[in-house]
Amino acid sequence: MGRITNKNEYTEHYNLSMKDGDAYWGKIAEELHWFKKWDSVQSGNFDDLNLKWFEGSKTNMSYNCLDRHLEKNGDKVAVIYEDNDPSVKARTFTYKELHAEVCKMANVMKERGVKKGDRVCFYMSMVPELLIGVLACTRIGAIHSVVFGGFSANALSGRIQDSECSMLITNDGGYRGNKIIPLKDIADEALESCPSIENVLVVKRTDSDIKWKEGRDHWLGELMEKASTECEAEQLDAEDPLFILYTSGSTGKPKGLLHTTAGYMTYAYHTFRNVFQVEEDDIYWCTADIGWITGHTYITYGPLLNGSTTVMFEGVPTWPDAGRFWDICDKLKVTHFYTAPTAIRALEACDIEYVNKHSLSTLKVLGSVGEPINEEAWSWYNKNIGKEKCPIVDTWWQTETGGIMISPLAGITDLIPAHATLPLPGVEPLLVDSEGTPVEGNPAEGNLCMNRPWPGIARTIWGDHERYKQTYFSTYPGKYFTGDGARRDEKGNYRITGRVDDVMNISGHRIGTAEVEDALNEHPNVVESAVVGFPHNIKGQGIYAYVICQNAPENEEVLQKELNEIINKMIGPIAKPDKVQVTSGLPKTRSGKIMRRILRKIAANETDSLGDTSTLLNPEIVDTLMAGKK
Ligand code: WT7
Repeated sequence: MGRITNKNEYTEHYNLSMKDGDAYWGKIAEELHWFKKWDSVQSGNFDDLNLKWFEGSKTNMSYNCLDRHLEKNGDKVAVIYEDNDPSVKARTFTYKELHAEVCKMANVMKERGVKKGDRVCFYMSMVPELLIGVLACTRIGAIHSVVFGGFSANALSGRIQDSECSMLITNDGGYRGNKIIPLKDIADEALESCPSIENVLVVKRTDSDIKWKEGRDHWLGELMEKASTECEAEQLDAEDPLFILYTSGSTGKPKGLLHTTAGYMTYAYHTFRNVFQVEEDDIYWCTADIGWITGHTYITYGPLLNGSTTVMFEGVPTWPDAGRFWDICDKLKVTHFYTAPTAIRALEACDIEYVNKHSLSTLKVLGSVGEPINEEAWSWYNKNIGKEKCPIVDTWWQTETGGIMISPLAGITDLIPAHATLPLPGVEPLLVDSEGTPVEGNPAEGNLCMNRPWPGIARTIWGDHERYKQTYFSTYPGKYFTGDGARRDEKGNYRITGRVDDVMNISGHRIGTAEVEDALNEHPNVVESAVVGFPHNIKGQGIYAYVICQNAPENEEVLQKELNEIINKMIGPIAKPDKVQVTSGLPKTRSGKIMRRILRKIAANETDSLGDTSTLLNPEIVDTLMAGKK
């Protein structure tokens, strides 16, 4: 079947994938390398939830990302590494060089006792060893669990404990603009409560002063020097775990989504090439952090599976100034640029000169991911960055989906500002009403579900299959529920409207309201709290916290500072509330449930449309809340 190259082919691919999914995905997968072919393409369904793809096969992710290209493309650049410091020349790794580094790191892990099935945690900034390390895990069948370097010690230890990682890989410190994040110090603190960790490999990056635990801590660089550049790729089963990635939900602690080998690999491969349409000499840059799913699938696996050149950037968009992204685009001759709406809006708010002093003439395709992109930001991106000649792919997907699900194909299918448009092959979206009844016909609006399994779907939540069933498949039995609402236009194009559950999207980061509330409630003076998202110009959503205090705080600013510290400690700075309102009560139903709908409306200043509040246990609280609005 190959890559989709025109609109008719999109339709052909899509129709075949719906009519005979096994035939379709079998053909796609044949383009990858298999030590042994599969016995069956797909089995299991959304009732039994024992989903399997390419069962009976043997394959290896790192072999497909690296070895498969060596003969023809060994000297092609696989990764361009752009340092935080703009005066440092970008480093490149050819496929051959990357292969050697990955083998070395795999050998180091093996020598330190890591075996197939063991969990290895990465708590790093964007250093090359992160990308090399995850590939090294896949080479030996170890399961990587990358924890974003902005999370706190508490958040890190919770994730390490949950999946009982035996190794942690970190760096002494991480550069982010003009700041240094003390990663090793934070990791040390986390490890006080992580008995499963036997070895810590430390990358020297900032030369910061760090503590050292003999026997446990090792400099990765020293071990790498002695390691062999040959390491045979383990022949793994199709459903052998590939990685765990934690993400927030509407309730409880973060969930460790588990992705497995063959299906995820095939899906990453196929979605990358079709959505972005990267050609042989193109330079593709996704600005995400490898700590998120976007960085897994579309910095690392998707591009490398396709033999493309992928850019990895250590720094931030606004340092040394707001032109950094555009500077890099020109310097590295970037052709494909994939970022988040929050970054676009933040850069849009800066002087346009930061854009205009760069040519941006190499750009061919732009992408957006992480949250709905508003029309205004879409137009600015299109006009100022794409110069109205680059298609913008608005890619909708989730940590759980493994890869892009609904998106235009660059230069192939039609674009509509702020619309993710059409489902990719193999993806069968369905809109349902609150009862779960499918909303047929066009146009339509409803809750977005998926009606059939696709190869990249997460197979379970680590250690809690019941929670997996409960979270995604119980609201609408027999369907996967995304948690998002969407509209479908006359022609079947989807527009994602945002989460319909208690998950917030803050600058493209997914944060559960319950998680933030649990942290706020740790404050000795907080009796109860309720957290909602509210519209925010740059972040998309901001965090609005209502707190009930035991004793009226003497100084609300001090309280807010203390709450921020708790959030920093429990979760990380990304979850800090933008606004805190101290209140004497929260609107509750007669059964004692907080009416979040009302809190959201007040936070969003939409108090004209509060709806019926008379059924509340305490209707008078609504006026009080409105009067004290922050
Ligand atoms: C949630 C998933 C995998 C992408 C990175 C975030 C929102 C993501 C879009 C888009 C509208 C989007 C959804 C989704 N989202 N992309 N193009 N348009 N909304 O992954 O942290 O798992 O979050 O991000 O609400 O459910 P994530």
